[in-house]
Amino acid sequence: MQRVFSGIQPSGIPTLGNYLGAIRNWVPMQDESECLFCVVDLHAITQRQDPKELLSNTREMAATLLACGLDLNKCTLFVQSHVPAHAQLGWVFNCIARMGWLNRMTQFKDKAGKNREEVSTGLFVYPNLMAADILVYHANVVPVGDDQKQHLELANDIAQKFNHDYGVDFFPNIQPMIQGVAARVMSLRDGTKKMSKSDPSDQSRINLTDDADLIADKIKRAKTDPDVLPDNLAALEGRPEARNLVGILAAVTGTTPEAVLAEHAGKGFGAFKPVLTEALVSHLTPIRAEMQRLLTDPGALDAELRRGAEKADAIAEPILKKTYEIVGFLARR
Ligand code: TYM
Repeated sequence: MQRVFSGIQPSGIPTLGNYLGAIRNWVPMQDESECLFCVVDLHAITQRQDPKELLSNTREMAATLLACGLDLNKCTLFVQSHVPAHAQLGWVFNCIARMGWLNRMTQFKDKAGKNREEVSTGLFVYPNLMAADILVYHANVVPVGDDQKQHLELANDIAQKFNHDYGVDFFPNIQPMIQGVAARVMSLRDGTKKMSKSDPSDQSRINLTDDADLIADKIKRAKTDPDVLPDNLAALEGRPEARNLVGILAAVTGTTPEAVLAEHAGKGFGAFKPVLTEALVSHLTPIRAEMQRLLTDPGALDAELRRGAEKADAIAEPILKKTYEIVGFLARR
């Protein structure tokens, strides 16, 4: 059976982008594969996090994942810092990956901006830890949004170089799984930028915690253009904001952008936006309610996460031990 791994950073409140690009696709995989899903707090601190907020965001993220349909009887859900093997294998990979490879990472360039001297070294080696997250379970399928593709290619380079350098066939090849019309949901303020939980503007995204009024307000103010919707996708070329809203409606209603255009061609955004708002509110309201219910009992949630970490640990530990043996570390016992 294939083993699936994916992670999400508790660096803010989960957005519609996280949901449509990743979380929603994780849910059906639980029925077909052995699945591990992880709230990656070690990754979150590569950029400054307020400790209290990190703690509450970690619980909130776990509650969101459950509210979106992860089922603890079918998958393993845990917090990255609870399983030390991630950081331990991450160190080994720091010694495998090459500076040149990391220098090419577009996400590092975007996040570091012009101020390279000031960003944490953790941000630079972030993809090595991400490779460790996956490979410490010998996971071979990784469902993610489009923005993670380059990191997964690097993870494969690391696995191959490790195997080659040590003359082993130990780490498997990873298959990225990038699905659907919403693999890249864009900002509501700028259709050329990814919707992100760390964007300073709350108006740029729909958070899964937003209530109906807030969703309506954000969609109403979302950037658009004065033209009507065309009857075919090619005609949306050069209209990134319009393309994005059409894609969101298609993803939320389980149809295609082509079908959305067939239904709404000739309408302006004044008519289209209320339809989109309605679809988002009816889709997200039950998720928000379930998330709030789960957060009323943080003790129970923490206990589930501890159980998840134990299950994850039991898979990761022998793989880490074998890695150490391959590298030539003296066995502890
Ligand atoms: P993160 O926390 O930024 O995002 C979590 C998941 O959501 C997807 N995503 C999006 N998809 C579509 N449109 C968007 N606007 C959008 N924004 C985010 C991401 O592609 C991701 O799948 N590095 C990862 C976390 C990670 C990880 C891993 C993932 C750490 N280790 C191992 C897979 C495997 C990240 O920052 O995701």
